[in-house]
Amino acid sequence: MVVPRVQAAIAEAFGEEYRDTDPVVRPSQFADLQINAAMALAKKVRLPPRDAAARIVEALELDGMCTAVEISGPGFINLTFDGTWIEELLNTQASQTQGGPETQAQRVAVDYSSPNVAKEMHVGHLRTTVVGDSLVRVLEALGHTVIRQNHIGDWGTPFGMLIEHWLEIGEDSPEAALLVEDPSAFYQAARAKFDGDPDFATRARLRVVSLQSAHEETLQVWQRLVDHSKVYFNAIYAKLGVSLEDDHIAGESSYDAHLAQLCQELEERGLARVSEGALCTFPAGFTGRDGEPLPLIIRKSDGGYGYATTDLATIRYRVQELHADRILYVVGAPQNVHLRMVIETAREAGWLPDTVEATHVQIGNVLGEDGKILKSRSGTPVKLMALLDEAVDRARAVVDSSRPDLSAEERAATARQVGIGAVKYADLSVGHDTEYVFDFDRMLALSGNTGPYVQYAAARIRSIVRKAGESPSALAAGTLTAGGAAGEPTAAATIAVVEPVERALALHLLEYGATLRRVGELLEPHRLCGYLFELAQLFTSFYDQCPVLKADDSVRESRLALCTLVLHRLSEGLDLLGIETPANM
Ligand code: ARG
Repeated sequence: MVVPRVQAAIAEAFGEEYRDTDPVVRPSQFADLQINAAMALAKKVRLPPRDAAARIVEALELDGMCTAVEISGPGFINLTFDGTWIEELLNTQASQTQGGPETQAQRVAVDYSSPNVAKEMHVGHLRTTVVGDSLVRVLEALGHTVIRQNHIGDWGTPFGMLIEHWLEIGEDSPEAALLVEDPSAFYQAARAKFDGDPDFATRARLRVVSLQSAHEETLQVWQRLVDHSKVYFNAIYAKLGVSLEDDHIAGESSYDAHLAQLCQELEERGLARVSEGALCTFPAGFTGRDGEPLPLIIRKSDGGYGYATTDLATIRYRVQELHADRILYVVGAPQNVHLRMVIETAREAGWLPDTVEATHVQIGNVLGEDGKILKSRSGTPVKLMALLDEAVDRARAVVDSSRPDLSAEERAATARQVGIGAVKYADLSVGHDTEYVFDFDRMLALSGNTGPYVQYAAARIRSIVRKAGESPSALAAGTLTAGGAAGEPTAAATIAVVEPVERALALHLLEYGATLRRVGELLEPHRLCGYLFELAQLFTSFYDQCPVLKADDSVRESRLALCTLVLHRLSEGLDLLGIETPANM
């Protein structure tokens, strides 16, 4: 509500280039909200901070929202809202089932998860999966058409040895079953044969040739390998509650047939040339340490195509066939130079018109407590499934001791939602491009910016609303009915905003739509986590200070309606993060 208006005012006062300044908007003891934007801007526009603040205020369109707008201290802008305006807007929102704002709908192709066949998914893949899945949910809620693209690694030279190994052990052997349960063990076994047995290695190399020339039997075995890996991926996706399905798979192999032509086109148009035997492009703006243009290899000296060529093909496909207006690559940060070079090459080739935005959503590493990439105690890569199971087990221990009144079934359900939710929230709540340390104790804590804290606030409101239904006031008997976005009760009563804590809570609720839009524009789910965390905190203060069930009839109904709206936003927001809201906690 307020943030976009302040940004528009900043753009008008100082120019469009300043629109994306983040105005820090906080509740304050002197006013409803305090905007802290002028001080940072003042330096850039060379004005005394209070003058910068005055320019913002002059341009600020508040159409009757505020009763007072004041500049205070070194350049804060204090806003005091009109109570009637708050109430009207809040009640309009309360009567709508969904809080999503309207935006100009786009077709967005989102490349995320993208694990590799016959390999273990690692915590890096976990994070691209979790962040990508939240972004697609947010973009869909904003009205965009999202096309999920799971670019699995299902092609290339390792498949020679993997296929040979598979043929040797036989499809029905327990070793073949490893592909589904412990893919890295399968991979290691194939690798060991390849390194230790020259005959095997020769057969594996021939097998690569036969795969590339689409030899029928080889392709069939390859397909079986891929299918087994899909079972493994899907087990992880199901455990995580991720929205990816088989139909979203568009793996490396699906682009293979186009690569030769793609290289030829680039070569003919003078965008690629042979350097040290390899065909390369030299996209503008990329130089090595020596100042020489940096090559992007699109055909190796042995004639093989690599990762870059396939990724060029993904852009062409997503623009020409999928008609995407926006393409997102939710991929590990270390691949940034690769992706930027691919994107620049595609621009130069005219495959990526200026009207289509292509963005690398960089995913930071997940570290162990030693500050290095997360490994298990024995030093091997951590098994993702075991990690998720441990999160659920730890949550179960907490629920078992805190809620012995629940049935074993209910406790199991809550533990699953809390354990998985905690892992996902930890991935989402820090900037997606920053590294963070994987720490069960911190992510499962019931205080701080954690999944369990936000889930707990929602579960608490559910229980309040349930209790209210059991003993409705004379006024409200029958108004709490099933319905709403997630089968939640809808509150029919009008919300009156009276107490200061109610006011702060109300104003924060009004920021929901603008927050979502911002998350979709900037592709930053951590902003949604921050919003929900603050909402949960504001709710807690409200509930500490304002009795709900014990209040008199009309106050009780108003506060229940406010609780219900908070619950809707919390569970809808969590859902957009891909996190469930427990019924009991
Ligand atoms: N399979 C790759 C990996 O595990 C990630 C692929 C990301 N997507 C892409 N279009 N390059 O590192």
